[in-house]
Amino acid sequence: MEKGATRDEGDVLTQYEQFVNPGLARALRFMGLTAVEHKGHGAVVVTEDGEEYVDCAGGYGVFIPGYQHPRIVARAQAQLAKLALSSRVLLNRPMVELAESLARLTPGDLQYSFFCNSGAEAVEAALKFARIQTGRSRIIATTGAFHGKTFGALSVSGRDTYRQPFTPLVPDIVHVPYGDVQALAEAIDEETAAVIVEPIQGEGGIIVPPDSYLPRIRELCDRTGALWIADEVQTGLGRTGRLFAVEHAGVVPDYLCLAKALGGGLMPIGAVIGRPSAWTFFDTQPLIHTSTFGGNPLACAVAHETLRVIVEEGLPQRAAMLGEWLLSALGDLQTRYPRVLTAVRGRGLMIGLEVPHPGVGGAIMAELLQRHILAVYTLNNERVIRLIPPLVITREQLQQVLGAFDDVLNTLDSQVEDLMEE
Ligand SMILES: Cc1ncc(COP(=O)(O)O)c(C=O)c1O
Repeated sequence: MEKGATRDEGDVLTQYEQFVNPGLARALRFMGLTAVEHKGHGAVVVTEDGEEYVDCAGGYGVFIPGYQHPRIVARAQAQLAKLALSSRVLLNRPMVELAESLARLTPGDLQYSFFCNSGAEAVEAALKFARIQTGRSRIIATTGAFHGKTFGALSVSGRDTYRQPFTPLVPDIVHVPYGDVQALAEAIDEETAAVIVEPIQGEGGIIVPPDSYLPRIRELCDRTGALWIADEVQTGLGRTGRLFAVEHAGVVPDYLCLAKALGGGLMPIGAVIGRPSAWTFFDTQPLIHTSTFGGNPLACAVAHETLRVIVEEGLPQRAAMLGEWLLSALGDLQTRYPRVLTAVRGRGLMIGLEVPHPGVGGAIMAELLQRHILAVYTLNNERVIRLIPPLVITREQLQQVLGAFDDVLNTLDSQVEDLMEE
């Protein structure tokens, strides 16, 4: 086909194959994923064919306020009509307004913000900040963690499949088992710059640590002078039933990383929010870490409105309420289909469904897709399907999801052995 010629819908996958990523195109075709997204509203994505899907994958967690939230769209349009990117010489009002709002909303004395464009970039920045602030190099991370795929973020992530082809990675990084205070206590010392931990591991398979875990990390960091980086890229902004997941434990990290939902489902943006005691390196070297697009007025205006929407619409409370109900209903399904569903866990609207084999998970996702429900497995653990829908999802839509799950589990119950051989 000639460049620029009109194509029908079926061609999009071919374009993936020809111009983007042939391997990915094959995988998508194998899973029966040929529909092309066109528009969205609330928790629903509409394809070019006009078919509607209830989205429980939420763009890997970015759609906390739903697709195309009218207030956030309006704010984006207003800012876009004035100034999208910063001159980077004159002062940038949307950026400082967002930073002030984050300082007010984050727990404890978290106060200063650095802005970038993604979760991985936020993690990169926090790792660098910890090293320069402490003058130390060792970073402790956890097995199963996911912090992004740039070099630094990958180096602290915990899945060999993604790490191995790129070795040697950033040096002086140690991994300890997630949730294991003893292992952390043995690894941390006066040479440790930082401990980086997700309050709930997302891509690791929705792993909720023991209640004492985060407070003990805080204590161990305080005792050794190491800084704690809480990666809330996935857990942040209401997902777990509190605005920030660290609030469940009542502890304050030295750096808190955000991205995903901060962009309100409209713009890419990442942020590191830090305590004054972890920010003094900027006093003498204000340009030590920068980003051309980071903190641009358009993304910041959108993020500022997003924070308002999340707070004013009570989305964290909604996640807590709907999550409790959904978790219990899924627990009932697990009791009825224990061969297909081996565990159900999570907090708020961040829920993981564990299956006995990746083949079973793949079949569940494909069957759900046929019933117009979007759900995906976690990147570091293919035996866990996660539900991270927009927090504006309605109870009726969740009933629809539950009905589809019931039907799918019932269908697959008799095929489990075969699926585990695939
Ligand atoms: C906890 C966590 N940190 C960092 C990232 C990386 O974010 P991004 O894909 O925006 O680079 C992710 C992405 O899934 C994540 O879940």
